[in-house]
Amino acid sequence: MPDLIPRLRDALVAADYSVDGVSALLGTTAHAALARNETTPGLRRTGEGSPLETLTRLWPLQATVTVEAVDRALPGLLDELCAEGILERSVGEVAARVDLRPYGTDSRDLWVLADLTPGLDGSPNRVGPDHVLGISPAATSLAELTVRTGVPSALDLGTGCGVQSLHLAAHVDHVVATDVNQRALWLAGLNAELNEVAIDLREGSFFEPVAGERFDLVVTNPPFVISPGTGERLVYRDSGLPGDRAVEHIVRALPEHLNPGGTGQVLANWMVLRGVPWDERLATWTDGSGCDTWVVQREVLDPAQYVELWLKDAGLHGAGDYSERYDTWLSWLEDKGVEGIGFGWINLRRSGGRAQSSGDRAQSRFEEWRWEVEQPLGPEVEAHFDRVAALRSLGDDALLASRLVLREDVVQETHGAAGAADPSRIVLRQQRGMRRARQVDTVEAALAGACDGDLTVGQVLAALAQLLGPDEAGGRLEGVRELVAEGFLGLG
Ligand SMILES: C[S@@+](CC[C@H](N)C(=O)[O-])C[C@H]1O[C@@H](n2cnc3c(N)ncnc32)[C@H](O)[C@@H]1O
Repeated sequence: MPDLIPRLRDALVAADYSVDGVSALLGTTAHAALARNETTPGLRRTGEGSPLETLTRLWPLQATVTVEAVDRALPGLLDELCAEGILERSVGEVAARVDLRPYGTDSRDLWVLADLTPGLDGSPNRVGPDHVLGISPAATSLAELTVRTGVPSALDLGTGCGVQSLHLAAHVDHVVATDVNQRALWLAGLNAELNEVAIDLREGSFFEPVAGERFDLVVTNPPFVISPGTGERLVYRDSGLPGDRAVEHIVRALPEHLNPGGTGQVLANWMVLRGVPWDERLATWTDGSGCDTWVVQREVLDPAQYVELWLKDAGLHGAGDYSERYDTWLSWLEDKGVEGIGFGWINLRRSGGRAQSSGDRAQSRFEEWRWEVEQPLGPEVEAHFDRVAALRSLGDDALLASRLVLREDVVQETHGAAGAADPSRIVLRQQRGMRRARQVDTVEAALAGACDGDLTVGQVLAALAQLLGPDEAGGRLEGVRELVAEGFLGLG
């Protein structure tokens, strides 16, 4: 069946099986219902037997359709698609064995094959150990976080259905994708062919398949669920290693697979241990790596919330041994001293900075930011590392001589009692990117406001010293560095 996938592609195009085509067919209500795993509204809108209706029933709605309808929608392909394991036929009816749906990206529409969505219309959402996820919220989150600069090489570790690699192929010359799950590699291979991109697929654990190789970009949404590692393993979420060892291993090993200037981006859970600040624990994974590091903790779940979330994800809520599993998992977390589970982003840039020497120190930034950010965040990650590099090479004299510019989207909010002459609190807030907020005093607010690219930092500080006195305006250079590092002030 050498040209099966290209012929499948032609049929999908002919049926207008696209993001817009399916959205228009389903309409808002049925589309929203499907997002809640309910298919009835969608089935009511797809009963006329057109090719687009047949494909939408077959895949997103996971309904059986007649052989005649499939022959109209996928002419001459039924037997081969059954032989490939994509469809299955029983007498006069056809059902999907894997999902295939359109997927919109910034650059173009794609199609993604993955395992069927479990739990539609209240059916049990148990999946097999080698289940391959489709486009999950975590996959989207990593895709949005990824730096999209054009580079020669990238690694997608734990590729699953290959979604990250499909994105990477738009801006990377050579994409290597690894997985331990052969089913994932099979689906990723089909997705590469269906979307006419080249992906170098390799089977193996963590970095084994790329031993000794370096990349300009490494992205991974690894199996990061934190568990005792003793229960049955769902390979898409359980690494088989206890606690957060898999993430620690990846973060520690990643730098040696980066070219100079290369970027590593990891989506992860980590344990927040009683009495140990989360950032200090994670810093031990990255210190001395030669990488600038930017870690953002986006949320923290308490252990009970966490265990419930993942037992439900495995379809075990209400199972006979649910309470026993819950109890075992929870007591394991308690024994380990886990008081919360953090979720967030670990970004590394191989800057070449040596942690020990003061002049070119690798910079680490750990921050907690639970608020909404502007997506996609990839450009902000790139800008962050650019700012870190620029500040590193800027001594205090050079900083004083530079002409900074307040970023256009920054607004000032003042808070205080109604009618009060002076605000009790001033906040500078970014409207874009990380949408950071920073509480400042009147001097820092005035300084930020004066940075329009005309005056140097030295001139602005001198003017403020004249206005407010040297005590008020002195010793402000660290604050200026922070404002630049956080993106409020640009180096022009
Ligand atoms: C959460 S899924 C992510 C899939 C996809 N990259 C995405 O962003 O949706 C994690 C993937 O890692 C794979 N995996 C599990 N253990 C692995 C290991 N030791 N080495 C490499 N990949 C592994 C799983 O098979 C699964 O495909």
